[in-house]
Amino acid sequence: MNIVVVGSGYVGLVSGTCFSEMGNKVSCVDIDHKKIEKLNNGIVPIFEPGLEPMVLKNIKNGNLFFTANLAETIAHADVVFIAVGTPMGSDGSADLKYVLAVAKSIGQTIRKQLVVVDKSTVPIGTADKVKETIQKELDTRKATIDFHVVSNPEFLKEGAAIADFMKPDRVVIGSDSAYAINKMKELYSPFCMSHDRFIAMDIRSAEMTKYAANAMLATKISFMNEIANICEKVGADANQVRIGIGSDARIGYDFIYPGAGYGGSCFPKDVKALKKIAEENGYNAQLITSVENVNDAQKLVIAQKVVKRFGENLTGKTFGVWGLAFKPGTDDMREAPAIYIVKELVKRGAKVKAYDPKATLEAQHCYLKGVENIEYVTSKYEVLKDASALILLTEWKEFRSPDFEEIKNQLKKPIIFDGRNQYNAFNLEEKGFEYYQIGKN
Ligand SMILES: NC(=O)c1ccc[n+]([C@@H]2O[C@H](COP(=O)([O-])OP(=O)(O)OC[C@H]3O[C@@H](n4cnc5c(N)ncnc54)[C@H](O)[C@@H]3O)[C@@H](O)[C@H]2O)c1
Repeated sequence: MNIVVVGSGYVGLVSGTCFSEMGNKVSCVDIDHKKIEKLNNGIVPIFEPGLEPMVLKNIKNGNLFFTANLAETIAHADVVFIAVGTPMGSDGSADLKYVLAVAKSIGQTIRKQLVVVDKSTVPIGTADKVKETIQKELDTRKATIDFHVVSNPEFLKEGAAIADFMKPDRVVIGSDSAYAINKMKELYSPFCMSHDRFIAMDIRSAEMTKYAANAMLATKISFMNEIANICEKVGADANQVRIGIGSDARIGYDFIYPGAGYGGSCFPKDVKALKKIAEENGYNAQLITSVENVNDAQKLVIAQKVVKRFGENLTGKTFGVWGLAFKPGTDDMREAPAIYIVKELVKRGAKVKAYDPKATLEAQHCYLKGVENIEYVTSKYEVLKDASALILLTEWKEFRSPDFEEIKNQLKKPIIFDGRNQYNAFNLEEKGFEYYQIGKN
């Protein structure tokens, strides 16, 4: 099949590459000319495990192309995916300007019957807007061409995106067109070899499914963080409570780790957008609002623990930070708790020495750009020298079982603030550490 994927970011690049891996001819399009130039030179601009070799292989075997010219790709396409960003607008709603700009370009350039697939996370009713936008351009051109708009929300997780895409839990397709549903079944069947993972539904339900999924996951996180905060007040241990409740199959162990709050490109903006969607439709989404409020507060809990231990004024103190990315396995720092925690410490006069296996450049050039008193180092133990404490913020594997003797020797005093509750099992108090974690006093 000839596929075009518009938007070559985390979702577009992974989807396009995985479709090409199955033998389709895929053109990945982006308006960012520098990104396209890099990709054409075999440079993958994001870190995602397993992505680079798959990109290089499929460029080499002629299945994967990169271009900034949408028009030339649309002429031969059977299916075009819209995978551009839907960032948070100033009022909290999802900003559709990129999606509708792509729809307009498709309307201007479409030559033959086409399935247009919305893969970006978009508010309910967006498929109708995409349809209207394309039709308007066709009317202007006085052209009659069949096209079918489909909602196919993406559920991949950064850090495990290739595995998620190659073996999805489900493929949700929202469409009212039998032609489009059959095309999508054809396209996705190689990804669903062991059993059928295809769930067809109406378009609005498919659009809503993505928001509901992310809101549910964010709810689990905020719920557990709230329980952790109560645990601290009443002298319970949130980690033990987690194990206690996770054993109930109706609750399960996934996504109930107390921590420094959720971040990333999806949960924060999608929770906010869902709240806005409800509001626009005359419904006050109280639970979703609380999920967001709990998370906003949670991002500062570790900084508050530091202040409680070292005082309001942190001038003259240095803190070593392990982890900047919003989660392990990615260089993505969008809405990472580290942004808020580092800024809070620096605002109080502290110096921060930070190490992340992949996200340092993102921090330096974007998310912590211009923030003074941060030094970035290239190995984890380097952050410790002369530091008053170690603060763990991202649960990268290389932080899981560190050399605690080395940490003790390097720090001024053996103090660890664990924003991810990684070291519960290590009896750090017995090893002579002051150990602060989420959900236990
Ligand atoms: N990142 C994730 O883990 C994830 C998971 C599931 C769903 N989503 C959703 O998928 C969508 C894309 O997310 P992302 O993280 O890949 O975004 P991203 O910011 O990494 O990539 C978006 C890309 O679209 C390009 N773009 C913008 N306008 C364009 C246009 N008119 N033509 C061509 N390219 C254009 C940008 O230059 C950028 O490269 C969002 O709606 C997001 O909510 C993201």
